Amino acid sequence: MAYSAADPSTCALDGFRTAIAERVAAALSPLTSDQVYSGVDYGKKGVDFTIALPRFKMGKPDDLAAKVLAQFKPDDYVESVTHDKAFLHFQCTSSTLIRNILTQVHSLTHLSPTPCYGSNTLGKGKKVVIEYSSPNIAKSFHVGHLRSTIIGGFLANLYKACGWDVVSMNYLGDWGTQFGLIATGFEKYGSAEELKKDAIKHLFEVYVKVNKDADADPEVKAEASRWFKRMEDGDESALKNWRIWRELSVKKYIEEYDRLNIAFDEYTGESKVGKEWQDKALARLDELGLIEDVDGAKIVNLEQWKMGRAVLRKRDGTSIYLTRDIGGAIERYEKYQFDKMIYVVSSQQDLHLSQFFKILELMQFPWAASLQHVNYGLVQGMSTRKGTVVFLDQIIKEAGQVMHEQMQKNEEKYKAVEDPENVSLEIGITGVKIQDMAAKRINNYTFNWDRMKSFEGDTGPYLQYAHVRLSSIARKNPNLYPLPPPSQIDIASLATSSHAREIVFLLGTYPDVVKVAMKTQEPSGVVTFLFRLSHAISSAWEVLVVKGEEDIQKARARLWMYECARDVLGSGMRLLSIRPLDRM
Ligand code: ARG
Repeated sequence: MAYSAADPSTCALDGFRTAIAERVAAALSPLTSDQVYSGVDYGKKGVDFTIALPRFKMGKPDDLAAKVLAQFKPDDYVESVTHDKAFLHFQCTSSTLIRNILTQVHSLTHLSPTPCYGSNTLGKGKKVVIEYSSPNIAKSFHVGHLRSTIIGGFLANLYKACGWDVVSMNYLGDWGTQFGLIATGFEKYGSAEELKKDAIKHLFEVYVKVNKDADADPEVKAEASRWFKRMEDGDESALKNWRIWRELSVKKYIEEYDRLNIAFDEYTGESKVGKEWQDKALARLDELGLIEDVDGAKIVNLEQWKMGRAVLRKRDGTSIYLTRDIGGAIERYEKYQFDKMIYVVSSQQDLHLSQFFKILELMQFPWAASLQHVNYGLVQGMSTRKGTVVFLDQIIKEAGQVMHEQMQKNEEKYKAVEDPENVSLEIGITGVKIQDMAAKRINNYTFNWDRMKSFEGDTGPYLQYAHVRLSSIARKNPNLYPLPPPSQIDIASLATSSHAREIVFLLGTYPDVVKVAMKTQEPSGVVTFLFRLSHAISSAWEVLVVKGEEDIQKARARLWMYECARDVLGSGMRLLSIRPLDRM
């Protein structure tokens, strides 16, 4: 991986990479340390950094290696270099490594205005609009929407951590023929009282019933179309109820998202998209000879780009999903002048997204190239014990209950938990999120409640447990506080411990983990990192004890390291939108 600029002030390991690059460049002139720097990679197990010599195209690796080895002298940064075929392997000097990394974690977490270890400023001055979740009012909130919510929430945090100005946006499915249908059905099946109680649920019930009617009686469908036409024409009497439905649904969603630690800067929706640009898009495509008229409906032909044909406007003149996306994108650009806009939408809609991206490109908007579809695969098997999930609050409730039952199995521990309902809900949600983000986005996966609730293996509960355990050290060792300032903590005992070194090196890689996530737009690398860190801590736990360590210097150094580990673990969890727990 190439890093164009080293920044030791936010990533201590950059300082070590620089040191290696300088030493190698000095031995291999005319190579510059910049050229070498981009070739300093993480080493395989047990090796800090590795350089593959053939990349420099300067002759035989053996000769190059011999030159580097001949000049090498161990110092505060680089302790040793070894030659292995085409590779040079480097070990950093443990005491400097440990001191620099822990000092940086500590100061960027506790001594800066906002905790920022792991963050960078690569996106400074740039704006990104991230659209995610985007459920349809009156239809079910399916697991696809949940994935969009989880991945989108992560991306919003990630871009912020990389210095971007982020606008997070929920684009509700709050418009379309189905609202004509619901309006028709509401007259027969609707209840103001039920609506107040749970708008999302009630509208769905009405929708299901009236759909049945429409299947049996074409007149219901026709009535629905007429109703939606009135809505599109701005007929206030047709819009009155719809407004209430939308408002109540959003209110309920805000509560549920809050439970998930997810928030939006803007709730927009298909209903908010103006007509103007939808018309202009049609005109422009017509000019390009891409529009076909089929019985009064307008169809765009994108076959030369292998994107098929798509309806842009129905015969009765009403808009559809595709046109609204075109108009919506243009309006968003006018409002935000974004440098980038991301749509977090299931891969089932790959074609739809590529169609409207293509149309915007054909309309010659220069920013069309900055649109990005972040897609993801299907989730199978997520049903609650009562059956198929239809609503988000069912998933949340079930996650809490499953976890609560699991915790009750350990009676003694359970009694010690202060607020078991809340704690189990939080752990349950963590379990759901971790399962969702553990693998590459594009993979389909089968949701598994047993795995979700398990404290063993790479699960959400395991991560929360690791965080709680680290948080408990401070509570259990009040005698070691206050800790001396970092420069006065004696780290000699850490420098000779392979356990400590492994933990600290991992902490040092966190800023890179964030950068790589930015490159791949994937949460899975962060999840993997958090598990590696938790495992390393877990193996050190019995060896590097704090309580019971009589040498107070040693105990304090370990405590400091565990505190830093907790800070990094917690910030990685927060990046994934998880709320780390201090007790359970
Ligand atoms: N509401 C849509 C659905 O549930 C998802 C919207 C995705 N975003 C977009 N701009 N098309 O299928």
